[in-house]
Amino acid sequence: MIDLSVTLGRLHLKNPVLAASGTFGYAREMAAAVDFACLGGIVPKTVTRHPRAGNTPPRTVETACGMLNAIGLDNDGIEYFLHHHLPYLRTLPTAIIANIAGENEDDFVDMAATLGREEGLAGIELNLSCPNVAGGIDFAIDAELTHRVVTRVRTVCPLPIVAKLTPNVTNIVPIARAAAEAGADALSLVNTFVGMAVDWRRRRPVLGNVTGGLSGPAIKPLALRLVWQVARQVCVPIIGIGGIATIDDVMEFLVAGASAVQLGTVHFYDPTASMRIARQLPEALAQLGANSIREIVGTLGSLT
Ligand SMILES: Cc1cc2nc3c(=O)[nH]c(=O)nc-3n(C[C@H](O)[C@H](O)[C@H](O)COP(=O)(O)O)c2cc1C
Repeated sequence: MIDLSVTLGRLHLKNPVLAASGTFGYAREMAAAVDFACLGGIVPKTVTRHPRAGNTPPRTVETACGMLNAIGLDNDGIEYFLHHHLPYLRTLPTAIIANIAGENEDDFVDMAATLGREEGLAGIELNLSCPNVAGGIDFAIDAELTHRVVTRVRTVCPLPIVAKLTPNVTNIVPIARAAAEAGADALSLVNTFVGMAVDWRRRRPVLGNVTGGLSGPAIKPLALRLVWQVARQVCVPIIGIGGIATIDDVMEFLVAGASAVQLGTVHFYDPTASMRIARQLPEALAQLGANSIREIVGTLGSLT
């Protein structure tokens, strides 16, 4: 028997393949195409304290092997989430990890306290890393701020906590360590890389927000390096994210040190990818002679 289950701190998942925030809607949108029971979990779109209209369009543009997005956290706010999305999400046969973003520390704390009183959530993911919020702060560029937010959220919320970090820093290790020391059950590595696209004929930026977050297969090697680097230096389970689109990508992240993965951009061109890839895990583990995910996590050797 092959054991696909994974344990990330206090968070238990039946398998390590999750759908990433912002790329799977609030799940309902995917119901016609996906058997949710096949997934390790779903992270719905980020929710903020108040509804947000998001950025001026255009908000997305295709790039070589990826895309840029500057959605700007368009969402209907936490009250709407609680009354319209959560009742549906909690009926699904997979782990639901709510994702929240605050414009300040108190927003994170208040929303986490509210969600902590709700039934049917397996955990919460703190989006400390969205680079597109006009006028907001990118919390995870600062180790001290990251530590403070995670510490305060832990005090008010009994659910497992996942801190989602930005790759847009010189050194991610101190920030990862700060989140781990503050009590995060796991880290999600990584959010999108800041980039831009230019229409040279019109001498204008392509995105309404000028800059956006790069995602998709183009970022996989960058994300893989960050996962590997943090896994070697910080003792905390990692959820690897960035350009994952095949079972080989998943296995690379696991061997490099991730205990689970999230698939994002791939859902826009292949909505069934997570489901299909999760089903391919037993065969891939068998190729390594392994009977469980744990046996292969962080087993990358050296060339010599
Ligand atoms: C259109 C789009 C919207 C996204 N929205 C969110 C979001 O609301 N919250 C969040 O934490 N990450 C968001 N992300 C980031 C993804 O969850 C993921 O971290 C990133 O895209 C890298 O993974 P990928 O290369 O597999 O897409 C978004 C990504 C895309 C492409």
